[in-house]
Amino acid sequence: MRKIWLILLMAAGWTASAQQRKTPIMGWSSWNTYRVNISDTLIKRQADAMVATGLKDAGYTYINIDDGFFGYRDEQGEMHAHPQRFPGGMKAVADYIHSLGLKAGIYSDAGAVTCGSIWDKDRNGIGAGLYGHEAQDAELYFRRWGYDFIKIDYCGAGQELDLDEQPRYTAIRKAIDQVGRKEVEINICRWAFPGTWAKELAASWRISGDISDNWGSVKHIIEKNLPLSAYCADGHFNDMDMLEIGRSLSESEERVHFGLWCLMSSPLLVGCDMTTIPERSLALLKNPELIALNQDSLGLQAYPVQAVDGTYVLVKDIGRRRTPVRAVALYNPTDSARRISIALSELELEGKARLRDLFARKDLRPMRDTLSAVVGPHDVTLWRVEAERRLEPTCYEAEWAYLPLFNDLGKRKKEVFYAVEAKASGGRVVRYAGGCRENAIVWNRVWSDLGGRYEMRIAYLPAENRGLEVVVNGESVQVPLSAEGVVTLPVVLRPGDNTVEMTCRTQWVPDIDRFTLKRMGN
Ligand code: GLA
Repeated sequence: MRKIWLILLMAAGWTASAQQRKTPIMGWSSWNTYRVNISDTLIKRQADAMVATGLKDAGYTYINIDDGFFGYRDEQGEMHAHPQRFPGGMKAVADYIHSLGLKAGIYSDAGAVTCGSIWDKDRNGIGAGLYGHEAQDAELYFRRWGYDFIKIDYCGAGQELDLDEQPRYTAIRKAIDQVGRKEVEINICRWAFPGTWAKELAASWRISGDISDNWGSVKHIIEKNLPLSAYCADGHFNDMDMLEIGRSLSESEERVHFGLWCLMSSPLLVGCDMTTIPERSLALLKNPELIALNQDSLGLQAYPVQAVDGTYVLVKDIGRRRTPVRAVALYNPTDSARRISIALSELELEGKARLRDLFARKDLRPMRDTLSAVVGPHDVTLWRVEAERRLEPTCYEAEWAYLPLFNDLGKRKKEVFYAVEAKASGGRVVRYAGGCRENAIVWNRVWSDLGGRYEMRIAYLPAENRGLEVVVNGESVQVPLSAEGVVTLPVVLRPGDNTVEMTCRTQWVPDIDRFTLKRMGN
């Protein structure tokens, strides 16, 4: 009886934490279609369209005003809206958005000037950024005007002032918290993964330069996000940028764009004119099974389990961790059709696999042993796969690992990164871990069904003057390296999740490809 109570309590706790966890924001943003040419009537018309098209009912709730609303600062330094474009002021727009049951988002720069002042010759953007006005603007935007979200760009702070990202965004977050609006979400728009500190401040962060309305751009952003799944956790998301759906991409390219933004748990901000959106694109944006993937309560980003011949297979758990139900994408970014196949065991699945096509919203004929489909050029097949059993994992790629010191920040870039390497399984290694204890490669969820003894086999690229220390659940061993690029060692895992780290206090760690685990006769 006590056991049943315990299980019930645990289930209740699990549900509560899953409910509290935030999901990626869904809404619309003005930038992709209008750049700085926005106005209050335009924004209100889009807000109306969000309701009229049914996008609001499908879950899209934010109307985000991007660059272009700035007017001038008065003698007290107070920001005013653009007098011609927003004659009624910014509060009236936020009030209107709220009156429709939607949330309102706004935009600024961490420095003194906006990106629009540099790239779009918007002179009103000069001096419009948050720099030196953090408290004043936070009071105005979030308390007096009532906005609920802010995207914070970096042109002024970067190109112009060359500020350090972490203290800069921390100061802004503090100013927003101090006006009593801790629930305001911020988006760090630094066009590259900013560093693991970002999760203390922001709900999401951009990982790439600006998206544009073409296939090359969509493909590039997916590629950039492939090794970043470890940073999408606990209600914080890698932002793949606003959607270009409903503009000029082909039907299959739109499938890739939306399907992978959903599977990778990116924020979903529609970027087209919602008053003229083509029916086909609208139906895609409203597909409830794809939205459910994006808003899944686990909040995970799919990671690549196979990279063959330019194609990828990505997978993630949905609903609950480690069940036989997973979401799987067979992604073909190449320019010709490909058959993509993967053994079920590579997906940690076994038995008959029931398949549901998430684009067509139809059940398909089940498959056994191997999943396989012909995928057209620039296209993706996205399935919910329900197998009979979930297998214990045996492989952990370096490109799935969390790197506590990883960032992608130009001048202040740290050395450690995910390097493209043709010889590596999955096509990537982690390069330049080590040199200090903290510069580790960390796998936080190394799963063992029962716990016990395993043989760990580490694959790496041999090189001179390297060292390797493997830390399992805090217990460290020095590992002798060889010229073969493979080393094996016995490890003991406990039942459930384990943490494995690879580091070296004194030297670089060799480029790590992956490790595999084999259960030993316990
Ligand atoms: C940067 C951002 C874009 C957009 C513009 C506005 O380029 O990355 O998303 O906000 O600025 O000027």
